[in-house]
Amino acid sequence: MANKQQTLAEITRRDFPLFRNGSNNQKKLIYLDHAATSQKPSQVIEALKNYYSYNNANVHRGAHQLSARATEAFEEAREITASFIGASLPKEILFTRNATEAINIVARSWGDKELQEGDEILLSLMEHHSNLVPWQQLSQRTGCILRHVGITQSGELDLADLQRKLSPRTRLVSLVHISNTLGCCNPISEITEMVHSYGAMILIDACQSLAHTPINVQALNIDFLAGSSHKLCGPTGAGFLWAREEILENMPPFLGGGEMIQEVFLDKSTWAELPHKFEAGTPAVGEAIGMGEALKYLKKIGLENIHSWEKNITEYLFENLNSINGVRIFGPKPERQPKRGSLATFSVEGIHANDIAELLDANGICIRSGHHCCQPLHRYYKINATARASISFTSTINEIDFFIEELTSAINFLKNNS
Ligand code: ALA
Repeated sequence: MANKQQTLAEITRRDFPLFRNGSNNQKKLIYLDHAATSQKPSQVIEALKNYYSYNNANVHRGAHQLSARATEAFEEAREITASFIGASLPKEILFTRNATEAINIVARSWGDKELQEGDEILLSLMEHHSNLVPWQQLSQRTGCILRHVGITQSGELDLADLQRKLSPRTRLVSLVHISNTLGCCNPISEITEMVHSYGAMILIDACQSLAHTPINVQALNIDFLAGSSHKLCGPTGAGFLWAREEILENMPPFLGGGEMIQEVFLDKSTWAELPHKFEAGTPAVGEAIGMGEALKYLKKIGLENIHSWEKNITEYLFENLNSINGVRIFGPKPERQPKRGSLATFSVEGIHANDIAELLDANGICIRSGHHCCQPLHRYYKINATARASISFTSTINEIDFFIEELTSAINFLKNNS
């Protein structure tokens, strides 16, 4: 590894209290579960502390200066979020609790209004449950049909199958950008062109890509994007939906209540302007501000720098995992897909993923095991559970070396004691 790249992890690790002093199971923490949730740098923790200590007030409501300060910080977080993804207007960002809520808004609001029996939505076999269940519920309400694009031998989205399944009946294609399990990076520009040529719309679940690779919604020419704060060094309880202004203008509100109205009568109401029409009730003010701070932090490091650092570590991870007998890695190899996500999902012949995760945990190493909220994908591969190591710009070669060493011992132990 080049020294310059080692320096990126060394420098950024100092920002994370958990990496300075953290432990797991009374051992030095080796955190390889960044895809489940990211750790938080001091900048984000301080932003939350500062907001709740000195600027806490309800937003868009008070005549007092404290409320004006909170509102300003909250709206600045919206501007930061819009600029981070290249949106043309801050009001195209709707703050939500998480990406799941963002997808549910599209299903409930756009879907209920626009779709009829026989209309089709294309999803894929690699989708997270959050990009499957809301559409199943929509299908039950409207009679729209769900179709699922398959996966190639190399663990990538089958573009030929997508082409086959697209038709004039297709109204929406909703896909993950980087799969949380296969790690493949779906070619969104190419897919968007195919989808738009049928007059359909496209939604991208960007949970696993926003903190790892630059994204520009206008360059990609997509219609909706769902994002989650806790995956990108921000707090839990915040996320966002982006869509172009004209799309959002034509969508009815999802939740009703305070903040989203213009006027309320006893028998009817009128709606507030964007983005407030979609933000009923008191929002997660501090959390949105924390997300804004996290995005500023990532931007300062540079998404290109993050991507190139993580790419090297991912290649090293794959190389070493591949050398262990009985390990099967899911998803495309880094040499096949240089833009793939920074994670490796694997199984070990004859050993349950949970047993591996438990033994690693005893040595301070955190990985994820299970179905990663992708049961249909695991069913497709005829496997109940896989193990997943996922990295970030704070990850180091030394961590991977230790992980591989402990994984090898765990496998030997489990083989000899089963
Ligand atoms: N979606 C999260 C993961 O992949 C929870 O672990």
